[in-house]
Amino acid sequence: MTDFTPNQKTLGAILFSRSGEVLSGSFLSESLGISRQAVSKNIGILRKTGFPVFSIERKGYVLKDSEESLHPLLLENEIQRLGSSGKAWYFHSLPSTQKVMKEFAKKGAPEGSLVVGETQTAGKGRTARSWVSPAGKGLYFSLLLRPSLPPGCVQLLNLLAGLAVCQSIEECTTLFCDLKWPNDVLYGNKKICGILSEAATDSDSIRYAVVGIGVNVNTAITEFPEEIRETATSLYDISKKTFSRRRLLLKIYDNFIQKYHLMLSRGFDSFLPSYEERCSTIGKNISLSYRDELLYGKAEGITKEGALILYTGEERLILHSGDVRHLR
Ligand code: BTN
Repeated sequence: MTDFTPNQKTLGAILFSRSGEVLSGSFLSESLGISRQAVSKNIGILRKTGFPVFSIERKGYVLKDSEESLHPLLLENEIQRLGSSGKAWYFHSLPSTQKVMKEFAKKGAPEGSLVVGETQTAGKGRTARSWVSPAGKGLYFSLLLRPSLPPGCVQLLNLLAGLAVCQSIEECTTLFCDLKWPNDVLYGNKKICGILSEAATDSDSIRYAVVGIGVNVNTAITEFPEEIRETATSLYDISKKTFSRRRLLLKIYDNFIQKYHLMLSRGFDSFLPSYEERCSTIGKNISLSYRDELLYGKAEGITKEGALILYTGEERLILHSGDVRHLR
């Protein structure tokens, strides 16, 4: 992770806002109120961090942004363009974006902030599982929220994220994915994305929530460990095409934040019908494991709290969490 100075951030913002245009050294030096040498030095530093700025002899500097780079200054400018005041951090390698985002949250990071990892050495899945994170192939990120909601509502963030991912994948790739309750994104019964929402709560409210999303984007099936090759897939595996991770990340971010604000103002009803439409668990016979119990039944629907209604043949159970398997 690099910490950028205010001058570097301003330079990044100007170049981003006029991407593709050659901007002269004197224009940049006047805009920032610093010397041309200082501009050149800061451009050099930005370049070393992977910011795609190039100098054109005797003309100036240009940002050549291919939509591939996950550089934090590009991400931060992109999310600000979407109306967020969040910050963005990028790590070449880190244990888990969840862990790092929780540290930033404790230090006061604003809502809408993003932590992105090129690879994770201890990617965290649900129920103490791990999340395989091959470098440069997938999207691994955590998003910080500070909702005024009671602690029980964390599940709604999970459902919201699942729906946002499905819709974003469709918008970026035309591939139609569905949801296994609560928030596994599937393509043909294979998992393409996992979501983990964690929150720090007081007795009656959420202090902050961190929504972690892992999407298998350009990963070849051989890059997954053998034990998950039968159950995991990627956008590349399905279509044999590669996709821009940044475009997908920003689409997920935008879709999620829009739905999130709608939910805060109008409640879960604002997205329950779209969620149910995408959720292939509903109407299926399933098994659900929760702690030491294994339950069987038909999934009948979702409650207003995002819980699953399971009819066992004898009774209707309302289940707030658990691991679901779709049965034939
Ligand atoms: C699951 O078990 O399905 C949830 C997987 C969540 C993985 C993502 S990758 C980005 C974020 N950081 C983590 O350590 N986990 C989540």
